[in-house]
Amino acid sequence: MAIRVVVLASGTGSLLKALIDAQDDSYQVVALITDNPGAVAIGHAATSGVQVAVIAPNDFSSRDEWDLALADTIDYYQPDLVVSAGFMRIIGEAGVSKFTGRLINTHPALLPNFPGAHAVRDALVAGVTETGSTVHFVDAGVDTGPVIVQKSVPVLPGDDEATLHERIKGVERDLLVEVVKDFAGQKKYFE
Ligand code: GRF
Repeated sequence: MAIRVVVLASGTGSLLKALIDAQDDSYQVVALITDNPGAVAIGHAATSGVQVAVIAPNDFSSRDEWDLALADTIDYYQPDLVVSAGFMRIIGEAGVSKFTGRLINTHPALLPNFPGAHAVRDALVAGVTETGSTVHFVDAGVDTGPVIVQKSVPVLPGDDEATLHERIKGVERDLLVEVVKDFAGQKKYFE
């Protein structure tokens, strides 16, 4: 039976789209949860019949209330796996503790290098010749949870943030699909 996957995304949602397009009998994307009512990702979900929930920070009077609403909304969809794929807010204690071991994130750098929201820019500024993508479990820190898998990507002469990020996202999409399918099959990293 297909496992239930909830995706958290804030922006373009190309990783969400890759996950939806690669669905098979091992997993099903049951919902997109976003903090951004204007996220392009919402369109990808809607055209594929994936349910959408918007949990916008402005609708809550405190960070704690938003955290709780996010955790409750994730829980509502009864996911086996929660995938943060371009979700640009830190998931609070309520969500992290409730979904430990089944909450993963994809990050556009080879962690522990370049954690945080500007990983691609930071790699360029540092002048590295190689960066990449990391899929990892989410813990209470920022991009600090146990690494599941990583893949490197070359930084090429003339790269700017956009070209490098697009090259990384090409790798991220495949890596994320592979990890979700492995999780569904309880293979490799999840035994
Ligand atoms: C990815 O590079 C992800 O690692 C980062 O944001 C990007 C999301 O891309 N946190 P998209 O919105 O799915 O196209």
